[in-house]
Amino acid sequence: MELKEAIKKRKSIRAFREDPIPREILREILEYAINAPSAINLQPWEFIIVSGEERKRLSRKLLKAYREKKISCSPGNVKPLPEVFLRRGYDSFLSLNGYIKDMGKEFDEFINEGSCDFYGAPSAILICLDNAFSYRRFLDIGIVLGYILLLAQEFGLATCTIGLISAYEDEIREVLNIPESKKVAIAVAIGYPDMENPLNNFKTQRDEVDMFIRWVD
Ligand SMILES: Cc1cc2nc3c(=O)[nH]c(=O)nc-3n(C[C@H](O)[C@H](O)[C@H](O)COP(=O)(O)O)c2cc1C
Repeated sequence: MELKEAIKKRKSIRAFREDPIPREILREILEYAINAPSAINLQPWEFIIVSGEERKRLSRKLLKAYREKKISCSPGNVKPLPEVFLRRGYDSFLSLNGYIKDMGKEFDEFINEGSCDFYGAPSAILICLDNAFSYRRFLDIGIVLGYILLLAQEFGLATCTIGLISAYEDEIREVLNIPESKKVAIAVAIGYPDMENPLNNFKTQRDEVDMFIRWVD
């Protein structure tokens, strides 16, 4: 797939088929993804790939924690956001909510519980970062994450980034035996998309590029 096409086509998928992903494919995606740049070529990322019954076991733990703590998906901002950001979030919420309502579900329940369940994907890739690194190395994690999302498409796979898991890091640590010395930075639900689910027709919009640019020359 051509790069520009892959970038335009990528979107978060929130309904997956159960078919397992062969280990060689997951390995190959990461083999390419680690060509991502990183500061001083530190390559600070660590991947934990959780599949099959173990992925379901992790989700059961996450769902239990979510039902107890009720920490939801949120932008995690420190101050109230300016109107432009609220509008973007609200627009996406409105159109996604239409599909969720058609499924007879509530938005919060669907997104939060769905995220804990990695939307039924057969595998989840967790990206960890050793605490020895500065918070700036999250930039490197973000770049490798972007590579993974794009590469997945090359293999006919789809993804949804799952940031919610950071609220339940302790539970993840316990299930996957991750030491306190590492952060669970982000997770990616990965699998074959269930294109019969109308939810997967949803695509978020973007503002005009000029909205984001200030030219200085
Ligand atoms: C850092 C990050 C965290 C995210 N966390 C979640 C999440 O926990 N649950 C979820 O359903 N989507 C999550 N998403 C997906 C975003 O909602 C999605 O990328 C955004 O709405 C744009 O849509 P698109 O990916 O289809 O272009 C996350 C995306 C990013 C980049």
